[in-house]
Amino acid sequence: MSNVRPESMARITTPELAHAFIEEQVAAVRAQVGDKKVLLALSGGVDSSVVAALLIKAIGKQLVCVHVNHGLMRKGESEQVIEVFGKAMDANLIYIDATDRFLDLLAGVSEPERKRKIIGAEFIKVFDEEASKLEGISFLAQGTIYPDILESKGVKAHHNVGGLPEEMHMELVEPVKLLYKDEVRVVGEALGLPHGMVYRQPFPGPGLGVRCLGAITRDRLHALREADAILREEFDKNGLAGKVWQYFIAVPDMKSVGVKDGKRYEGWPAIIRAVNTTDAMTATIEEIPYPLLHHITDRITHEVDGINRVLLDLTPKPIGTIEWE
Ligand code: XMP
Repeated sequence: MSNVRPESMARITTPELAHAFIEEQVAAVRAQVGDKKVLLALSGGVDSSVVAALLIKAIGKQLVCVHVNHGLMRKGESEQVIEVFGKAMDANLIYIDATDRFLDLLAGVSEPERKRKIIGAEFIKVFDEEASKLEGISFLAQGTIYPDILESKGVKAHHNVGGLPEEMHMELVEPVKLLYKDEVRVVGEALGLPHGMVYRQPFPGPGLGVRCLGAITRDRLHALREADAILREEFDKNGLAGKVWQYFIAVPDMKSVGVKDGKRYEGWPAIIRAVNTTDAMTATIEEIPYPLLHHITDRITHEVDGINRVLLDLTPKPIGTIEWE
């Protein structure tokens, strides 16, 4: 398969077209791989999840999925990977909880680019160590999609830290590399992946590490993860999940005085960011109904240890970036 999408290739918009694509790719992957083994770094993001499901269908246990939990995942994400791929699809899944390795390395590091570099380099190290324990792996599968090829200077290429080392010298298996994101989603649903996984929001490779501003501490990271889970739950329940492109919490390394149970209570603020965009290069602010904001504030301040204020970010991009970092 070349790296250029032929003009004649129809957009995959329906389950029928998705199934035809899947059949074609299953045959192509079987022809490419034969009886050899394929390795995949499965983050649980849309692209790697769809590639995993496709390859499980094509070659079953010849696919070895490695999920590295860097401790910076959102609440429930690694659990979902284990549930969907390890259990429901009965895949050959290796789960590595590397939380301590990552958080120990990040302790005291506040500079954003250094944090990203540490997370990226450690990810490769953990993955590489795991790969070297496996025998007879001939191929490396990747969730490359067409915009990744087109936008070599795009947002993802500029940001991504999840790239794997070139010295792995393995032949690549990239079954969705000619698809746009919306097509990958249609294919994912046709493969039976859960809707929530297929329509997941974009999430940075370094995960909550970018949103836990300054030097990451375990207690503040925990507060961020819990507050973020409440925001996602409330957006889901109140019909905003499908309408708002990206929404999350950031927690800065800063405390202020509050009152709790009649006593002084120092805590961090949780900052709500909810934006709409089409290409992530510019973004506008989504209006969230005030009663819902009050409810979210009430839940976060009462349910999350360490948070004593909730703030709303009204800054479009530009001038703010989407992430807080
Ligand atoms: P910014 O903050 O630059 O983010 O306005 C634009 C979009 O990119 C996402 N983002 C990433 N995506 N790997 C990714 O694939 C990354 O490392 C990364 N960092 C930021 C961000 O969430 C937003 O959607």
